[in-house]
Amino acid sequence: MLIGYVFCLIVVRCEPDPDAEVIESAEDGGDLGIVGEDVQDFVGGSFSPALGVETVCVFPKNPSKLVVAGEESELLVGIKNDGESSINIIAIQASVHLPFDHQYLVQNLSAQAFNNASVPPSAQATFPYIFAVSKFLQAGTFDFAGTIVYEIDQQPYQSTFYNGTIEVTEAGGPLSVESVFLFCLGIALLGLLGFWIRGQIQNLSKVITVFVLYYSLLFL
Ligand SMILES: *[C@@H]1O[C@H](CO)[C@@H](O)[C@H](O)[C@H]1NC(C)=O
Ligand SMILES: *[C@@H]1O[C@H](CO)[C@@H](O)[C@H](O)[C@H]1NC(C)=O
Ligand SMILES: *[C@@H]1O[C@H](CO)[C@@H](O)[C@H](O)[C@H]1NC(C)=O
Repeated sequence: MLIGYVFCLIVVRCEPDPDAEVIESAEDGGDLGIVGEDVQDFVGGSFSPALGVETVCVFPKNPSKLVVAGEESELLVGIKNDGESSINIIAIQASVHLPFDHQYLVQNLSAQAFNNASVPPSAQATFPYIFAVSKFLQAGTFDFAGTIVYEIDQQPYQSTFYNGTIEVTEAGGPLSVESVFLFCLGIALLGLLGFWIRGQIQNLSKVITVFVLYYSLLFL
């Protein structure tokens, strides 16, 4: 029993604290999309969208927008240039917010820089964005706001390609809180059974000893 409890304590201690801080700075967000100094000036700015630029967003093979916490996910941003000048794509950036309070920023995702990838007039192009939400995010629905930053005639602009929900799931480890609890319960029950059997055997051996003594005395 005691051993079972101690074991449970050790196992439970290895579990990540479910109340762990969900807010993470961008520096902790992994080393995806290293952003150069010049791009840094644009990321986090707020520019208006340019006229004649349309964006779409696709989560390939993932229509339910399911994202595993701590693992890389990919989405594709399509951009269509109906304007008269070419577009220079600078970066894609995104952030995760609480669904019931969009103002509450949960995580700044790392920005993906593009070295002046150019989209000429009447052309369209697709850009990948690979991101990973913090592994400390709890499973559930979150708001995801993604913007693409670009330049037209040396003027910076940005368009929001997605501002909606994503579904975050926890990485599928074998140790959920429930399974640890069930495991501990199982160990405790086994321990109890062991004590009971040992008690029975001890009682039985006492009875046998008494009988053996009694009969040996009778036959002496
Ligand atoms: C996220 O990025 C915005 C804009 O760059 C910045 O104002 C904010 O402080 C950042 N928040 C965190 C938690 O990193
Ligand atoms: C991108 O284009 C701008 C001008 O549009 C130029 O100043 C800059 O050096 C270019 N950057 C790269 C990485 O090609
Ligand atoms: C996304 O939508 C929310 C309201 O639902 C709004 O407050 C927020 O500014 C939007 N973000 C972007 C990047 O458009």
